[in-house]
Amino acid sequence: MQTTAPQPLRAAVPVMAAAKANPGLTPVMLNHAAWVTHDVAATADFYTRIMGMELASTVLDDSIPSTGDDIPYFHIFFRMQDGSTLAFFEAPGVPAPAKSTHPAYDIFNHIALQAANREEVMKWYEWLKSNDIEVIGPTDHKGLILSIYFHDPAGVRLEITTPLDAQWNRHTQKGYEDLKLWVDCKEQAIREGRDVPKALIELIGNIRKRYD
Ligand SMILES: [Fe+2]
Repeated sequence: MQTTAPQPLRAAVPVMAAAKANPGLTPVMLNHAAWVTHDVAATADFYTRIMGMELASTVLDDSIPSTGDDIPYFHIFFRMQDGSTLAFFEAPGVPAPAKSTHPAYDIFNHIALQAANREEVMKWYEWLKSNDIEVIGPTDHKGLILSIYFHDPAGVRLEITTPLDAQWNRHTQKGYEDLKLWVDCKEQAIREGRDVPKALIELIGNIRKRYD
């Protein structure tokens, strides 16, 4: 469903002068998200056996169709219950990626997969632990969702989550209000020559009081 933002709030979010209104296009669902693996056999075992997903499709080629880059690869997709997939590429000779410049990247970059309910999240927890997989959580995210976190063999950070609030992804009005607070705080700090991260940390401190 297309959500319509309240105009005064949307107007408060900086947009390019020539920005056009969306003509009613919103993606239908997750088709796939993709990462590089250096061990596609371990990846296939993890997603089919541990994660219970179907091996959905594979592609082998010696160049990338979209860009024409001559990188030979094996591409594999794993399917979830709703038909959405996770995908991986193994490319011979590609070196390990560079290390992140800050731990935040390794914490924040992740993908969350939905479980049916709280009980199922706990079943996932036990199942993963019984396979000697390190699991963080369960974590209650301010009554919105309940999550556990772990990594796949390629180092992708995964989350299994379930909504605690049936409207967790419909808090649009509050979202625009928070976005405006954040953007205004940054802009004001810049105008006043203040330290931007410090100003934002103060803002977070004030907003946190909502949850205390
Ligand atoms: Fe998440």
